[in-house]
Amino acid sequence: MTLLQVKQLTKRFGGLVAVDKVDFHVEAGEIVGLIGPNGAGKTTLFNVIAGAFGPEEGEVLFEGRSIAGLDSARICQRGLARTFQIPQVFSSMTVRDTIVTGSLLHHRAVADAQVAAEAIARRVGLGARLDVPTPSLTTAEKKRIEVARALATGPRMLLLDEVLAGLNASEVAGMLDLIRQLRDEGTTVLFVEHNMEAVMSVCDRIVVLDLGRKIADGAPLAVMADPGVIRAYLGDAPAAALETEAADA
Ligand SMILES: Nc1ncnc2c1ncn2[C@@H]1O[C@H](COP(=O)(O)OP(=O)(O)O)[C@@H](O)[C@H]1O
Ligand SMILES: [Mg+2]
Repeated sequence: MTLLQVKQLTKRFGGLVAVDKVDFHVEAGEIVGLIGPNGAGKTTLFNVIAGAFGPEEGEVLFEGRSIAGLDSARICQRGLARTFQIPQVFSSMTVRDTIVTGSLLHHRAVADAQVAAEAIARRVGLGARLDVPTPSLTTAEKKRIEVARALATGPRMLLLDEVLAGLNASEVAGMLDLIRQLRDEGTTVLFVEHNMEAVMSVCDRIVVLDLGRKIADGAPLAVMADPGVIRAYLGDAPAAALETEAADA
């Protein structure tokens, strides 16, 4: 079943076309990676899907219904939750209260929202940190609380924006394990990431953007061998060399 379908999506900032007629889809149960060089339009595409701003053109369907132009709270209620590239930690709030801001979506009573938040905190490995003010968390913990807050809204699909940035190798491995477990428990994942090794290891499929356009979409190994993708990342010279090698072989 197709969970998310993006059709001919375009987002401009003044004269700059940040996302240019992008088509892609995510099937239920997939982990899809959205990659591309800096400035490719990944965060903008993410923001349009999550309702931070509407598209100029095109359509976003979640579970077959249009969500383009809805605000982020409404989209979250529909079952699509996102994390922020810069963790949104509020100065005085504890881990528990931060996660409660997510779980209140489905719990009228604060006490119930707190119980739900505590369960989510344990789920992401922050069970021992419930009373800690979020600014005191480590970088890895801040990334986990971002995931926790999104998870607390009970999403069927998670949009993760660079949740591995700034993490060391073992923290990356821990986060990837969590992402795989969440998928195995039924949450579909679309994630934007720079760490190519991580993307290759966890994704079922990779979508590549460059200068706002989709330039590749497919299995990780096939996408990474695509000359257009290599050119986008490394510039023309290495790609030309690779093509010459391929022609010689
Ligand atoms: N709020 C904004 N106002 C103007 N230009 C923006 C804004 N956000 C992003 N851009 C521009 O849109 C392009 C895509 O940016 P972004 O989506 O952040 O790329 P990525 O996440 O792939 O690095 C870049 O050229 C960037 O400078
Ligand atoms: Mg970005």
